[in-house]
Amino acid sequence: MAFDEIPQHFKQWELSTTQGIDGLKLVEDASIGKVGDEEVVVEMYAASLNFLDLWGGHPGMLELEKSPGLITGCDGAGVVKAAGSAVKSFTAGDKVITYLISHIADDEKVDFTKVGASIGIATNGTLTQYGKFHVSNLVHAPKEMSFEQAATLPCSALTAYNALLGLRGRQVEKGQWVLVQGTGGVSVAGLQIALAVGAHVVATTSSAEKAAKLKSLGVESVINYRETPEWGLPARELTPDNAGFDHVLDVGGENTIGESVKAVKTDGVVTTIGLVGGPTEKQVPIMAASHHACIVRGIVAGTRQQMRELVTFVDKVGLKPALDDVEFGIEQVRDAYWRQEKQQHFSKVVIKLRD
Ligand SMILES: NC(=O)c1ccc[n+]([C@@H]2O[C@H](COP(=O)([O-])OP(=O)(O)OC[C@H]3O[C@@H](n4cnc5c(N)ncnc54)[C@H](OP(=O)(O)O)[C@@H]3O)[C@@H](O)[C@H]2O)c1
Repeated sequence: MAFDEIPQHFKQWELSTTQGIDGLKLVEDASIGKVGDEEVVVEMYAASLNFLDLWGGHPGMLELEKSPGLITGCDGAGVVKAAGSAVKSFTAGDKVITYLISHIADDEKVDFTKVGASIGIATNGTLTQYGKFHVSNLVHAPKEMSFEQAATLPCSALTAYNALLGLRGRQVEKGQWVLVQGTGGVSVAGLQIALAVGAHVVATTSSAEKAAKLKSLGVESVINYRETPEWGLPARELTPDNAGFDHVLDVGGENTIGESVKAVKTDGVVTTIGLVGGPTEKQVPIMAASHHACIVRGIVAGTRQQMRELVTFVDKVGLKPALDDVEFGIEQVRDAYWRQEKQQHFSKVVIKLRD
């Protein structure tokens, strides 16, 4: 394969010794170095940011240790340029996306301990013009999707897919009701997957402008969670016979789980995904799950097999991930992180890595 086509010098973003977004450093003369037998070199076209990318310097959040010199970014898309001698599943020219966790079996379940070892956190990530990944950190990209759209799939869309279609016997179906919270990456991916299946979707947001965007994607009703902090029962009243939602994707954590359980249908599923609602004094009403006779299911991303299923799914239904209005170039990565940090974005913040 084309090792000689990989430039000697290219741009990438690395962590310096300073914590947080200001500690990100643009390196202009990066090089790929030695390529291991099981490694693949990818010409990267686009990356996208997640809430996860803010950890390690984000006040109040769980800490994930990242080392100086690390290339940040978990999500990305590009084209295979070259690979080590043991790589049989990819060839030069293949369009690929990243998969967070390396060295696990295709169907091995992911828990939080494995996230600490993922790309962009423990090993080099996607904010580079040429990435070198272990073969297990890649899957083939969807056929009909731009690099910018494909770069949104690895973390948030996979998680949304696992929430809605990953629990056997509880996969979301046409005509069912789904509730998503806020307009971040997981929630917008979730609503797009639910709508593609033919479900009805209700969403919460803190912004009138974002509410209009939700409606334009096909969301039936939107509740402002700042104006209506106790939105669980009002949301439930939007469903036929006030029966509640078949699926609730809870990204708010301890701040929102009480409302999620009020909104869910008897025997429905609340998937606990995140903690974007921040810390709270509220008690987590775990017995409410029993009173509402629902399933509360925790997930962490999804398996590599589910990642491949997601790719097949988006190709089949023609799903095109919604992107934020503002697009960033490789020089503007810090601005992109700030947009994510300030929660100004809708769906996914994307960074184009090439001109
Ligand atoms: N378990 C997993 O495997 C997994 C995978 C991916 C992400 N996550 C977690 O899931 C959460 C979301 O991740 P993300 O990458 O989608 O985040 P994100 O894009 O940064 O989401 C930001 C959005 O969250 C919304 N939000 C903030 N506070 C809220 C609240 N109290 N109620 C409802 N919505 C609220 C806001 O929407 P508005 O601006 O519309 O108000 C904000 O714009 C994070 O906690 C992340 O760590 C977990």
